[in-house]
Amino acid sequence: MGKNFKRTLVTSALPYANGEIHLGHLAGAYLPADIYVRYLRLRGEDVLYICGSDEYGVPITLTAEKQGISPKELVDRNHESIKRSFAGFGMSFDNFSQTSREIHTETSQAFFKDLHAQGLFRQKTTDQFYSPGQNRFLADRYIEGTCPVCGDENARGDECEKCTATYNPSELIDPRSVLDNSPLELRPTIHWFLPLGDWQEKLSAYIDSHPEWKDNVKQYCRGYFDSGLQDRAVTRDLSWGVPVPLPDHEGKVFYVWFDAPIGYISATREWAAEKGDAEAWRTWWLDDETRLVHFIGKDNIFFHAMMFPAVLMAHSENYILPDNVPANEFLNLEGQKLSTSKGFAVWLPEYLAKFSADPLRYTLARNAPETRDMNFTWEGFQARNNNELGNNFGNLINRVFTFIHKYFDGHVPQWSEADLTDLDRAALDEVAADREKWTAQMAKFEVKAALETAFHAGQVGNRYFDESAPFKSRKTDLERCGQSLGVIIQILRQLCLMLAPVVPFGMEKLWRWLGMETDLWQGGWDEGLRNIPAGRTLGKPEILYPRLDDELIQPEIDRLRGLVADD
Ligand code: 2FM
Ligand code: ZN
Repeated sequence: MGKNFKRTLVTSALPYANGEIHLGHLAGAYLPADIYVRYLRLRGEDVLYICGSDEYGVPITLTAEKQGISPKELVDRNHESIKRSFAGFGMSFDNFSQTSREIHTETSQAFFKDLHAQGLFRQKTTDQFYSPGQNRFLADRYIEGTCPVCGDENARGDECEKCTATYNPSELIDPRSVLDNSPLELRPTIHWFLPLGDWQEKLSAYIDSHPEWKDNVKQYCRGYFDSGLQDRAVTRDLSWGVPVPLPDHEGKVFYVWFDAPIGYISATREWAAEKGDAEAWRTWWLDDETRLVHFIGKDNIFFHAMMFPAVLMAHSENYILPDNVPANEFLNLEGQKLSTSKGFAVWLPEYLAKFSADPLRYTLARNAPETRDMNFTWEGFQARNNNELGNNFGNLINRVFTFIHKYFDGHVPQWSEADLTDLDRAALDEVAADREKWTAQMAKFEVKAALETAFHAGQVGNRYFDESAPFKSRKTDLERCGQSLGVIIQILRQLCLMLAPVVPFGMEKLWRWLGMETDLWQGGWDEGLRNIPAGRTLGKPEILYPRLDDELIQPEIDRLRGLVADD
């Protein structure tokens, strides 16, 4: 963050409302953003976290047709279920909206009109397949015909899966609609294009002004600049989408990648309206003291680092530009690529029906695909839960609380700064140093490294407990015993803070057990390093991270192996 910002607006890529969320999604655009947002809230920063479902596009109409329902019914249903899954996983959005809502139609149409009025679009006529029977133009995915190269009868509009030939759609023989097999003809149609080439110089200067961006993002953009940015269509001939707001153009809607990023703005407007301050969204999008950060998967880089910034630059008002676009690589599953069509994925609702959110958040964060593709295995998940969450953190918390309840009646024993020994001080200092390191890593989106730091702090706590040995001094020197426990309670509080963004469900409990009355998510961080006084009543703990046994894990492994075997 090169300059001093007053607030941070964080977004996660709007998921398509065309199915459920799976682990690959979570690892890329969602969990890293939620962790970052929680980190900022912990530090008392002004932050707004926006998301929603992306509800237009051809795949959605295809699914709706298959299910015999309207696209709106489909997206409403999926929106609700995605929203529920995200809540179960602990995603802390300030608003989770939908692009099929009226506020988004208004917002994206106003954007289009603004650019159109400035003459910034290029209008072009192209030939596209039209179904005279259905009275409409058909998108590529609805078109089949005979391959002009090998004669296969199930070739797609511009490529043949059988012989891998690609061709101009006008060469396809006997083109027909996949919906009703009716014959198609090519007809001219008008579309609007954003001439991205006109923005190349500005975009390239913009990206050069962010040397701190991740290398994958910068390299990806430079690749585009090298080959020269092309005109990009912003409209389509479809019935499902935001209507193009120009007279005499019925049946035309926005290309989904034109309207979807504007969805971040619509969702912010909706958030503002709901809290009764309709204009409040402007501070978040038009004040250059706001820092905008888009979390995405690597397949979305073009639209967030080029197309959307160009649209924002083009608008006649001074919209802020993304200050960072942390794009993550992909997550593989049991050593293989995810495949939703083959069912080779782990879906969030199914996961949540059997397990709790924290162990998955922890495992995905520990294996975050920050700089390269990573692999999720169920065995790895089990080991992270049992050995790290359970043995390192959970046991320490449990040992300390149980001990204090048993021998000190659940009150923090007498301890004081004046009585700190070298051993006490060394442990406290080491954890304080970890906390500094953790902060720097989190600020750079290095969650994996930050978790390693927190893990180290956990080891320091465990080692201190063993070495200061309150279980021995209890019998020989009760004052020393109390002092050690007083020290370790301060360490637990630091651990709680460092882990909270990643495993919020468990750490919110720990925060309460520690008797903290302040809100963890409103600056709990800044209340000092050792501020739990002697005498405070502690809550009764429970086992935070129970062991996950093979009987629970094996069926998950077997299901995925079965899918691979069937292949
Ligand atoms: O790739 C996707 O899942 C898209 N629905 C992401 C859209 S992000 C933003 F532009 F809305
Ligand atoms: Zn062919």
